[in-house]
Amino acid sequence: MRYGLVGTGMMGIEHLSNLAITPGAVVTALADPTTASLAWARGALKDRAAGVAVFEDAAALAACGLVDAVIVASPNHTHRAVLEPLFDAGLHILCEKPLATTIEDARWVVARAAASPGVFWTAMEYRYMPPAKAFIDAVHAGDVGALRMLSIREHRFPFLPKVGDWNRFSRNTGGTMVEKCCHFFDLMRLIVRSEAVRVYCSGAMDVNHRDERYGGETPDIIDNSYTVVDFANGVRAMLDLSMFAEGAENQEEIAAVGDAARLEVFIPSGELVTSPRTGFRRPKAVERRVIHTDPVALQAGSHHGSTFYEHQKFNAAVRGEGPVEVTAEDGLRAVAIGAAAEISAREHRVVAMAELGF
Ligand SMILES: NC(=O)c1ccc[n+]([C@@H]2O[C@H](COP(=O)([O-])OP(=O)(O)OC[C@H]3O[C@@H](n4cnc5c(N)ncnc54)[C@H](O)[C@@H]3O)[C@@H](O)[C@H]2O)c1
Repeated sequence: MRYGLVGTGMMGIEHLSNLAITPGAVVTALADPTTASLAWARGALKDRAAGVAVFEDAAALAACGLVDAVIVASPNHTHRAVLEPLFDAGLHILCEKPLATTIEDARWVVARAAASPGVFWTAMEYRYMPPAKAFIDAVHAGDVGALRMLSIREHRFPFLPKVGDWNRFSRNTGGTMVEKCCHFFDLMRLIVRSEAVRVYCSGAMDVNHRDERYGGETPDIIDNSYTVVDFANGVRAMLDLSMFAEGAENQEEIAAVGDAARLEVFIPSGELVTSPRTGFRRPKAVERRVIHTDPVALQAGSHHGSTFYEHQKFNAAVRGEGPVEVTAEDGLRAVAIGAAAEISAREHRVVAMAELGF
């Protein structure tokens, strides 16, 4: 299958590394307006760079006739404009999260994807981290009994520098709760198997970026927050985000509690811990196992091997050999919860999803 890549920055390079180990995948075209990024991508392709067509924008790539599927890894605020010519050309698309920076643009993507002959897949890598996948499967298999509570903690490093510093401003990213946390709202929907009905987020930019200036402007992105999400089926979920905690042993710690047991997963350690209820003062029966990730997949990116597994599934869907597991609608719903959290943090109030049309 012939692949094009739009946006050859950090995440684009991770896609190239994973396409290199995806059977039957050949990269035939790249598009990026930044010469340095294109040079980086050609370097990453190594001996596969010869003969790869290079374009300044998505429209030229869409018209080149050299690609079957396109990976979109340009900045969030460019997704809609980048997607338009790709949809017009009827291409298969894997689009990085968040689908868009606004609910309006994400709805537009859903409508265009529904009318397109091609496969459309929202890139939500966290679903495909093997320890996260094992956790999701265990909850769905009933290992905690009836799920009642889900908490996700991400304690990590600050936002990295990006090409043109686009990620310093909410107008380009959708805000941290959309940009970064859409992953976790997507996980919540997937695990809880219901839709969000209300969101409360307390968050601000308290530690990072305060002394940074871009064209005289200070960044406006949340660097820490607590978000509570109520789901229609009564399950409550919580996200605890800190972006000044890179010293933490594990970046992600996820816990599900049901009426029969608690299940936890830790990433990157891969530890999965099951703690069944045994009764007050009875001996505990905690079980631990470690979920291993293929070292080749681990080395092909910085998302715990997930991008590799995502690519195998996307490739299968394009060949008609598997379902689209993360639809445009999934991408929209994750953006919508993030947008609700942004409003909530700004206005210090609970936001009902119905206010946003959901
Ligand atoms: N799934 C994940 O965990 C994950 C991680 C990182 C980034 N991302 C997503 O990937 C996307 C890219 O992020 P990044 O970290 O690689 O950023 P980056 O700044 O490193 O790279 C973005 C590239 O896009 C190029 N670009 C800008 N406007 C463009 C346009 N109109 N058309 C084509 N290319 C354009 C830039 O020149 C740059 O080379 C974003 O949507 C981001 O949210 C996802």
